[in-house]
Amino acid sequence: MRPFDGRRVLLGVTGGIAAYKSAALARDLTVAGAAVDVVLTRSAREFVGTITFEALTGRPVHDQLVAAGHALDHIRLPREADVLVVAPATADFIARAAAGRADDLLAASLLAAGDTPVLIVPAMNDRMWAHAQTRQNVARLREIGYHVMEPETGMLASREEGSGPGRMPEPSTIRAHLARLLEPASVLGGTHIVVSAGPTREALDPVRFLSNHSSGKMGVALAEAAWRRGATVTLVAGPLAVEPPTGPQLVSVETTAEMADAVRAALATADALVMAAAPADFRPRDVAEQKIKKGAASPTLALEFTTDILRSTRDARRPGCVVIGFALETQGLEAGARAKLAAKECDLIVANGVEAGAGFGTDTNRVTLFGRDGAREELPLQDKRDVADAILDRLARLLDGR
Ligand code: CTP
Repeated sequence: MRPFDGRRVLLGVTGGIAAYKSAALARDLTVAGAAVDVVLTRSAREFVGTITFEALTGRPVHDQLVAAGHALDHIRLPREADVLVVAPATADFIARAAAGRADDLLAASLLAAGDTPVLIVPAMNDRMWAHAQTRQNVARLREIGYHVMEPETGMLASREEGSGPGRMPEPSTIRAHLARLLEPASVLGGTHIVVSAGPTREALDPVRFLSNHSSGKMGVALAEAAWRRGATVTLVAGPLAVEPPTGPQLVSVETTAEMADAVRAALATADALVMAAAPADFRPRDVAEQKIKKGAASPTLALEFTTDILRSTRDARRPGCVVIGFALETQGLEAGARAKLAAKECDLIVANGVEAGAGFGTDTNRVTLFGRDGAREELPLQDKRDVADAILDRLARLLDGR
């Protein structure tokens, strides 16, 4: 099933140069399964054509508040939609929406949105975004209950290099926010979840390090899914081999000690910790200040253990904080997992064996879950995103039981 199958999206486009990106958004959502009804403002039509959107969505485009035979589109369209998104939303549109105007089809549709979630995606010159009047208008929209995305910093669609935020986020980012708004209410909504991902690196000298094959895929899938379910997510990650997700706040670290500090700091407000990272367990006892040269004798590395992050943060957890650890075992899966469950004081351990299609770097994983209550549950070999969803279902139950 595609993520937007059976969903209806009302996409409002206002008159900014970034409107060309909305065509990509309309296509992206349509390919993902959504029925996309596009509403163009009068000035949007100066930037992009009706035909473009009709061709991309396979549906008629709307641009008139009062059109023969369609006098009630501003009531019908929002009522039929599962979510409304205005992208790009210009400074002028934001001002009109904040004032509750209903002088065109899009503004009137917002007023008729009822309980349907509304996502506003601002795009404008960085100075206009920073203006006190725009700040006030945006604050008003948020007060009303609209979700307003933060624009990005970087080159504006007008090819000007904005020195502050103003640029419209990419269609994939907007799509992730829409998926979040379409997600049914979950106990994870409003919670703070800390997820760790990826390997850590321990330097030998300025150019070499000890690490492992972790890609961070499992942790990123967990962070992404927790955010989609409405949680505020802190993703503490070592060097990732995959793109970091949209939504979670990324804290990038290098060493196990840095990861331990970042996890500890985030735990101050956390309702749950999911420790999917593969921190390096050893580090060189001495880090050479200069590159180690090839000498006559073969070199010997003296190693020492790094901090066990899960164990060391037992005292940093708030009462009721749910803790999920992972265990990678090449033999004695159950005994190893249960020992880690107890020693690291976890509520659940997600155990991995080593086999083809599971573990480091793959897109799929086969895990067995061991609960503090003695439960044991084997999950099938599946995509890491499905494994993440299964783990979060268990996390939701554990949070619910608190
Ligand atoms: N972990 C941790 N700090 C470390 C190493 C691991 O917090 N320095 C966490 C992992 O993120 C995982 C769990 O502990 O959630 C188990 O990791 P694993 O590598 O399976 O076990 P180790 O504790 O490292 O034990 P061993 O290598 O002896 O199996």
